[in-house]
Amino acid sequence: MTVTWTSGYDISEAYPFVEWGTNLSSPARTPAGTVTFDRESLCGEPARSAGWRDPGFIHTAFMTNLWPNMKYYYKIGHMLPDGEVVWSKSNSFTAPPSPGQKSVQRVVIFGDMGKAERDGSNEYENFQPASLNTTDTLVKDLDNIDLVFHIGDISYASGYISQWDQFTQQVEPITSRVPYMIASGNHERDWPNTGSLYNSPDSGGECGVLAETMFYAPTENRAKYWYSMDYGLFRFCVADSEHDWREGTEQYKFIENCLATVDRKKQPWLVFMAHRVLGYSSGSHYARDGLFAEPMARESLEKLWRKHRVDLAFYGHVHVYERTCPVHEEKCVSSEKSHYSGAMNGTIHVVVGGGGGRLSNFTAEAPAWSLYRERDFGFVKLTAFNYTSLLYEYKRSSDGEVYDSFTVHREYRDVL
Ligand SMILES: [Fe+2]
Repeated sequence: MTVTWTSGYDISEAYPFVEWGTNLSSPARTPAGTVTFDRESLCGEPARSAGWRDPGFIHTAFMTNLWPNMKYYYKIGHMLPDGEVVWSKSNSFTAPPSPGQKSVQRVVIFGDMGKAERDGSNEYENFQPASLNTTDTLVKDLDNIDLVFHIGDISYASGYISQWDQFTQQVEPITSRVPYMIASGNHERDWPNTGSLYNSPDSGGECGVLAETMFYAPTENRAKYWYSMDYGLFRFCVADSEHDWREGTEQYKFIENCLATVDRKKQPWLVFMAHRVLGYSSGSHYARDGLFAEPMARESLEKLWRKHRVDLAFYGHVHVYERTCPVHEEKCVSSEKSHYSGAMNGTIHVVVGGGGGRLSNFTAEAPAWSLYRERDFGFVKLTAFNYTSLLYEYKRSSDGEVYDSFTVHREYRDVL
């Protein structure tokens, strides 16, 4: 488990650490590393000018050799040179299941949330009106959530660094208790001529530095924010849609390797994620050129999804909810809607970009592969019960109720 926090203490001023333990053992202390970044680390305006604020110091500690599913208590400390310790308040988390472990595991996925003021004051453009609903609904149900993925367009700070504080404060009740994993989106990474696949100015000059420094993920190189993550019955292959994914690239090799190297006997639920829609979306933005996805995405990746029998793929970027049939090359391979069993032969693609940012539009007519679409705010929850059955639910942020769902029953032989 990783704990990351921010303070005003540089390494010469205090020693950062996490004190942690169970009810059964005396607490241990794990030292934390410290990093920061300078104005010159950023790529452009406003991040380097009007949006700049000293970010302080970002500390990360890794707690290892945890008992799966055990509840741990922890608090953050900074030891001053005279031995006095400045403490945070105490918190707790449940250690993750080991890869392949059979136990109930519940994962929440959404994109494009941002932040908002409770009193409605000073919201820049009021662009993320529903983010508080999403946060509050998740916090209410936190005892029933093991892991959260926020798949890109995290804070919409877009170069105004203090906006990250507002975001991290809003999600702190979640991030202090369950792992909060991210993917990189256009609002984190994109900046012209800096190596992002798209030359848009959407990061406001941050060019990924803020997100990559503040959110730990098990990447090989955090400047290329793709990673593989094993969590009990799941394997997640998280792509970085802001870097090139096409066949022949470094990222394509990673995706292929991530999908190919999972033991489906023990980790049957293989999930692909990215911020931009690399699969299917009938959002009007993607329908314009008739592709219903980022150009060249499916042409590179669809063969991998089929070959490795990827069950589910998630995206954000379009601020709506949409679920496809199990689809391959634009054709539904099953007419089922609420229960799937046996070999799937196609991937179910989900756009779940309604975390909080202003809603997007759909095409007037839904394509044949689009099973359910809704222009509202919400998130997806996956519950893996064991090696053969999975529950999928889409919930609205406004009331936490289920508006779309299905179940999967699939045996190991079905993915061979
Ligand atoms: Fe986006």
